[in-house]
Amino acid sequence: MNTVETFTKKKSAKEKISMLTSYDFLMTKLIDKSVDAILVGDSLGMVMLGYEDTTRVSMEDMIHHIKAVSRGVEKSLLVGDMPFLSYHLGIKDSVLNAGRLVREGGCKAVKLEGGEEIKEHIKAIISAGIPVMGHLGYTPQSVNVFGGHKAQGRTIETAKKIIEDALILEESGVFAIVLECIPYDLADHISKQLKIPTIGIGSGSKCDGQILVTHDMLGLDEDFNPRHVKKYTNLSDIINKAILKYVNEVKHEDFPKEQNSYAMDGFNIEDLFYEES
Ligand code: KIV
Repeated sequence: MNTVETFTKKKSAKEKISMLTSYDFLMTKLIDKSVDAILVGDSLGMVMLGYEDTTRVSMEDMIHHIKAVSRGVEKSLLVGDMPFLSYHLGIKDSVLNAGRLVREGGCKAVKLEGGEEIKEHIKAIISAGIPVMGHLGYTPQSVNVFGGHKAQGRTIETAKKIIEDALILEESGVFAIVLECIPYDLADHISKQLKIPTIGIGSGSKCDGQILVTHDMLGLDEDFNPRHVKKYTNLSDIINKAILKYVNEVKHEDFPKEQNSYAMDGFNIEDLFYEES
């Protein structure tokens, strides 16, 4: 079973860390075989629930999906996202909410978005025995502050702020930091500065690991094509073709065939109506 120590060891050994998101049991069983860690991301708001962004995701949504995923995990480290407003209303609330994701959901670590402004919350959660993963750069819960999905750290001031925040998060005790959509040379610099691993998404190949939203890399949404996503297959195409084939076979009575049906055991349908008197 992977733990936060696996992350530290991999960074020391210069071995890349691979992560994917998951939100349900069956997909988790498939993903768990190959990755180091699984994130139940609050991206479930868009992927599973059809919301426009992550700000509508609740603690109950997160716990519901973390529970399902935890039943499918055998070896990966399971990390759960703390949703919007679950760690902004005070330190006590933050610890209680992180505790709910672990105790009710079953994850082994939590992820929070932000830097200096949440360092005391992070320290308190870690003091309660819950490992924390940080998240800097484009932080989706602040979409309304950024004014849309935009790469961050492209100016000197914002790049400096991300470096400072990364150092503060490391000092606060996080075991890894997700760097989302920042310039690749900034991500490279931060990865070299920190002792803990960085996990990139849209931040170049020099991070210590990578994460993608599984449904994006499997090509499940034909309308979602951001620059940082590589589609390793085109599941929407495969699924569309399979569904059309099914509908066509139903129309022409090609499905179900005999091998998909059940026969009567030792009598014919007529026997029901012509019983011997
Ligand atoms: O919610 C999420 O899926 C994430 C990853 C994309 C890093 O935070």
